[in-house]
Amino acid sequence: MKITVIGTGYVGLVTGVTLADIGHEVTCVDINEAKIKLLNNSISPIYEPGIEELIKKNIEEKRLQFTSNLATAVQISEVVYIAVGTPQNEDGSANLSFIKEASKKVAHSLIKDSVVVVKSTVPIGTNRKLEKMINQLSNYNVSIVSNPEFLREGSAIEDVYSGDRIVIGSDDKNALEIIVKINKEFNVPILKTELESAEMIKYASNAFLATKISFINEIANLCEKTGASIREVSKGMGMDTRIGSAFLQAGIGYGGSCFPKDTAALTQIAGTYSQDFHLLKSVIEVNQKQQLKLVEKLLTIYPSIEDRKIAVLGLAFKPETDDIRDAASTQIIKALLKQKADVYAYDPIACENSQKLFGDTVKYYDQIADVLDNAEAVLIITEWNSIKKITAKQFKKSMKNPIVLDGRLLFDQEEMKNESVSYYSIGEGRSYV
Ligand code: UDX
Repeated sequence: MKITVIGTGYVGLVTGVTLADIGHEVTCVDINEAKIKLLNNSISPIYEPGIEELIKKNIEEKRLQFTSNLATAVQISEVVYIAVGTPQNEDGSANLSFIKEASKKVAHSLIKDSVVVVKSTVPIGTNRKLEKMINQLSNYNVSIVSNPEFLREGSAIEDVYSGDRIVIGSDDKNALEIIVKINKEFNVPILKTELESAEMIKYASNAFLATKISFINEIANLCEKTGASIREVSKGMGMDTRIGSAFLQAGIGYGGSCFPKDTAALTQIAGTYSQDFHLLKSVIEVNQKQQLKLVEKLLTIYPSIEDRKIAVLGLAFKPETDDIRDAASTQIIKALLKQKADVYAYDPIACENSQKLFGDTVKYYDQIADVLDNAEAVLIITEWNSIKKITAKQFKKSMKNPIVLDGRLLFDQEEMKNESVSYYSIGEGRSYV
C-alpha cells in the first residue's frame, strides 16, 4: 500500500522504514528540511543500530522517500500515519500542540475518505477528539486508528520485527482490517480493540515496566541494609514466570524519553479524573532518588569532592543510543558540579549531546583511559560493553584512588577485592566501601 508517515523522529522514522521494508511504498514527512536532506542521502538524524542500512536499501529499491511537502504526501497515500512528538509539559501533561497541528494539516490536505493512524503516545481520549476535529475540518470521512508503539531505543528495528504484539484501536472495523493487512508481513500477534483501550495499553505498559524497575531498586536498597545481594534476589525472583526476569535489573534507575514522560503523564491524567495515582507517584519518586545514589555514596567517602577528579563512565540513558533525555548522567553531573568536583565524562557516542547541556564545565572523552587516569573515584552510569570490559587491574593502575561506584551492577566484588579496589555496587549487602 501507499503509506505516508508524518514525523521522522525515533518512532516515525523506524515506522516508515520498516513498513517500506515489508513492501509498502512509504513517504516520510518532516517540517525540518535539513533532516529531509540527510534522510534522502541515507543519513539518519538519529542513532539507531541498523536504521541507515534499511534507509539506503529501501530508497534504492524505490519504496521509500522523504519530503517536507505534507499535502502532496497525504494526497498520494492510502493511509496516513502521524508519529509526531508529544513531549512533556511543565505540569507533567503531554504537549499535544504538535499532533494537533499535524492533524489539522492532514485534514486540510485530504482528497478522499481516509484512515489516519496515530502512533504518538497520547492521553486517553485524545484520538477520539482528533478524529472529531479532522472530520470537522475535512470534506471526507476519516477514521482514526490508535496504533501505539512499544519500541525500545537501541533495539527499535528488532522490536518491530519481533515485538510481542501490535495494538490497534478504532471504532471502524474496516479501518482496523486495513491496518491488520498493512502489518501482516511482520508476523506479530495483533490485538484489535477500541480507541481508549489502545491508548491506555501504551501508558499502562510503560508505567508497569517503570514500576518493576522502581520496585527492584527499592529491594536493592533494602539488600544493602540486610546483607542480601540484589543480583541473587533478582535472579531468584525472575525464575517465577509470574514475575519474569525482564526489567528486574536494579541500578541507578530509568531514564529516556518515554518512562519519565509517560509516568508523569499518566499520573496527571489520573488527576484530571480526581484519581490520586499514589503507586505511580511513588515509582517516580523512587526513581528520582535512585539516580543520585552514587553521589550520596561518594559523599560518604569524601566529605568534600571539590577539585577532585571524578570519572563518570556512560552518559546515554542506556547502551546503544546517544540519547541523554532524562538520563541519570544529567542529574549526577549536576550534583557533582554543585559540589565543585572536576568532572571527566566518557561515552562512546553521547558526549556531544551531554556537552550541549554542560558545555566546558565537564571534560568529555571518547576514550576511557583519559577519564580514569588519576581519578579519585569513578561512577559507572551506563552499561556500555566498552565499560563492562574494564578490569579491576585497570582501575587499580589508572586511578589515583581506585574507588569504583557501580550503578549498573557490572563488576565482580571478589575481583575488585583481590585487586584492593574499593568497590560499591548498588544492592550489594556485603559491600566493603
Ligand atoms: C521504553 C519501553 O521499553 C518501550 O516499550 C517503549 O516503547 C518506550 O520506552 P526505552 O525507554 O527506549 O523503551 O528503553 P528501555 O530499554 O525500556 O529502558 C528504559 C530505562 O530503564 C533505561 O534507562 C534503562 O537503563 C532502565 N532499565 C531497564 C533499568 O533500570 N532496569 C531494567 O531492568 C531495564
